[in-house]
Amino acid sequence: MATTIPEPQEAPQLEEQPGLYELIGGEIVGDLTSRDVLAGIKPEMSEMDKERLVLWAKEFKFWEDFSRIYHYLEYTRFYNDLVGTVRDFAEPNRGDIWLDAGCGSVKMSQLIWEKSGKSLEKIIGIDIVLEPARQRLDELGHSLPLELKYANLGEKLPFADNFFDGIVANACLTSVIDFNGKKGKAAFTEVMREMFRILKPRGHIVWSTPKRRPFYWKNFVVGLPAMFSIRRQIQHRIFAPAIGIRILKYGLGIVSKGRKGIYPFLNPAEYEEILGGIGFGDFRWKKSFAGQVWVNRADKLCPSSPPKVATNEPMPER
Ligand SMILES: C[S@@+](CC[C@H](N)C(=O)[O-])C[C@H]1O[C@@H](n2cnc3c(N)ncnc32)[C@H](O)[C@@H]1O
Repeated sequence: MATTIPEPQEAPQLEEQPGLYELIGGEIVGDLTSRDVLAGIKPEMSEMDKERLVLWAKEFKFWEDFSRIYHYLEYTRFYNDLVGTVRDFAEPNRGDIWLDAGCGSVKMSQLIWEKSGKSLEKIIGIDIVLEPARQRLDELGHSLPLELKYANLGEKLPFADNFFDGIVANACLTSVIDFNGKKGKAAFTEVMREMFRILKPRGHIVWSTPKRRPFYWKNFVVGLPAMFSIRRQIQHRIFAPAIGIRILKYGLGIVSKGRKGIYPFLNPAEYEEILGGIGFGDFRWKKSFAGQVWVNRADKLCPSSPPKVATNEPMPER
C-alpha cells in the first residue's frame, strides 16, 4: 500500500514565551542546572513566569537525580531489547551526521556508530544533563566522533534547517514539559516540528515513548535476575536491588506525569496524526522494553519525491 505524502503544514505562530535562558536573564553560556533555574526566579516576575521556572527546575532536578543511576538499566534484558529495536529501525550511512537527542549515557550514539560500520562523519549528542555522556565518552577514550552540546528540547534547537541525515531520540521527546510556553500534546507537536526542521529531506528519525499507560512494575520483575547478579554487584560495588527500587521510583514518576497529561503518552494513531500533519510518513512501529514502550521510525517525506511503498506491518493493536 503506497503512503500518501501530506503537504507539510505551515507551522502556526507560536505564542512566543521566552526560553529559559532569556527568562532567567543570563547570557547563553553553557549548561543550566536546576539550581540556576531556581536562582533565576525574581520577585518582580509574573506569576506565570515563576510557575514555569519552578516546573522546569523540578524537571531538571528529576533528570539530574535519575541520571546518576539510569545507566544501570543497560544491564537489563528489556533495555537491550529496546536497543535492538532501535538498531533494526535506524539506517545510518557512511558520511552521515546524526543527532542523539536526550542522549543520556550515549548508548544510542554508540549503537548508531556501530551500525554505520564506524563510518559516520559525526554524531551530536544533546541533553539538559550532560555529565553521564561526558563520563561515558571518557570511558570510551573518545573513540567515536561524538560532539556533546547542552540543549533543551523545549526550545528552538541550535542547528540549521536540513542539517541531520538521521535522528535517534530514545525515551525523551514525550518528556518535554513545555515548549516556549506550550504544554502536553501542543509541546510535543512543536518538539516534532523542530525534529522535522533539522532533518534533511528523506532523513529519518527513530524515537520511542512509553505506551499510553505504561506498567513499569513489569520491568522491575523482569529485571530481577539482573539485580541479583552477584558478579555485577561486586564489580560495581553496588547493592543492585536498591538501585532497581530507585529506578522503579523514577519510572513511576514518569507514569504519573503521563497520567496527568504532563507527558503526552498517546497511541500510535494519535502520534501519526501529529507527525503526518508535519510532513513525516512511512511509519513503522514496534513495542519493546518489556512491552511498555513504542519505538517508531518516521521519514521526512518531500512532496516532490515519489512515495515509497510502506513496509510497516498492519497498524498494531493499541
Ligand atoms: C529516559 S532518558 C534516555 C536516555 C538515552 N536516550 C538512552 O536511550 O539511554 C531521557 C533523557 O532525556 C533527557 N531530557 C529530558 N528532558 C529533556 C529536555 N527538555 N531537553 C533535552 N533533554 C532532555 C534526560 O536528561 C535524559 O538523559
